Amino acid sequence: MTLLLSHYYCRHMADRYSTNSSALIVARSPGRVNLIGDHTDYMGGMVLPMAIDRYTTLTAHQFDTSLHLLSDNQPEPLDARLPIVDPSSTTPAWGRYVTGVAHQMQVARGFWGSVSTTLPLGGGLSSSAALELSTALMLHSVNDLPIPTALELAQLCRRAEHVATGVPCGIMDQLTCAAGVEGHALLIDCYSMLVSPIQIPHDVHVYVQFVAHRQLASSAYAERVAQCNRAEVEIGPLRLAEVGSVRNISDELLRRRALHVVGENERVRRATMALALQDMTTFGQLMNESHFSLRDNFEVSTSQMDAAVETARAIPGVFGARMTGGGFGGCIVIVADATANLQHLQGVMHVKPVGGAEIL
Ligand code: GLA
Repeated sequence: MTLLLSHYYCRHMADRYSTNSSALIVARSPGRVNLIGDHTDYMGGMVLPMAIDRYTTLTAHQFDTSLHLLSDNQPEPLDARLPIVDPSSTTPAWGRYVTGVAHQMQVARGFWGSVSTTLPLGGGLSSSAALELSTALMLHSVNDLPIPTALELAQLCRRAEHVATGVPCGIMDQLTCAAGVEGHALLIDCYSMLVSPIQIPHDVHVYVQFVAHRQLASSAYAERVAQCNRAEVEIGPLRLAEVGSVRNISDELLRRRALHVVGENERVRRATMALALQDMTTFGQLMNESHFSLRDNFEVSTSQMDAAVETARAIPGVFGARMTGGGFGGCIVIVADATANLQHLQGVMHVKPVGGAEIL
């Protein structure tokens, strides 16, 4: 049905707009899973995610002055005239990630085509960042602009998300999807924006289990960012703070929030070392500790995610499991050896680390 619709739409658009049909361009971006280091990026902290072999793919022709896009996963197409003035009011809402990028770029030429994805939507695997990045690549291409660096692309898409959705996200999702390296996780210092690829041993397997849909825009994500900022007013940058100074924060809630960020930065450093040394037992323990801190100190897990994490951890061969991404639903990530049998877990996917967004 979707394919038929997509076919009809492309024919319709071709008849309506294109007598001289321009070349077909394909831009695609992977999603990401974060192995460890959540709710640290927007405080300039450390994260260790990887780009995964699930993609959002945009297939389009250049088209003057408008954006027309049919989605394989959404009932309503996007139809928007350039220049985009207020991406936050675009309907349907999924189109805001597209118009948000066009708004940042202030380009003259748009495109018409379709978008499809193998990422679960609203699943905490960066389907939004993947749509933003494929849009940014497509708009560069149809406007004959040189493709910027991965970091520049990521910063552009992050600004687009802020303006289009109001979610004050960090840089992790966009930078991971843009800068992914096959076979590697990325250690990202979200203050200096330095990206260091860390090889994942061949016999280490990464799984993602989908637990529940969530939307960061309607979650307490922005509230958590604000709480961390308030903690910084008391003790200075959390990325430089030590657990000892966190104890000086007078408010109990802010103290726990800060304790998570400071502890999580340290866990990322230790987990990176463990991964580099192929010490997967330590790596798994740090993943488990990260989950407890996100659950108890940061309060972004859910009982469903806690239960899924517990079940996964009890399986022989599993090194560690934790919620991944912003939380309030979404996915958990499981790291295991080759003997672990996870097939009976509902909604589980084996994911591999891949390279970043590209024009195919
Ligand atoms: C979401 C945001 C990221 C990051 C994570 C939590 O995915 O988009 O910037 O803050 O949550 O680590």
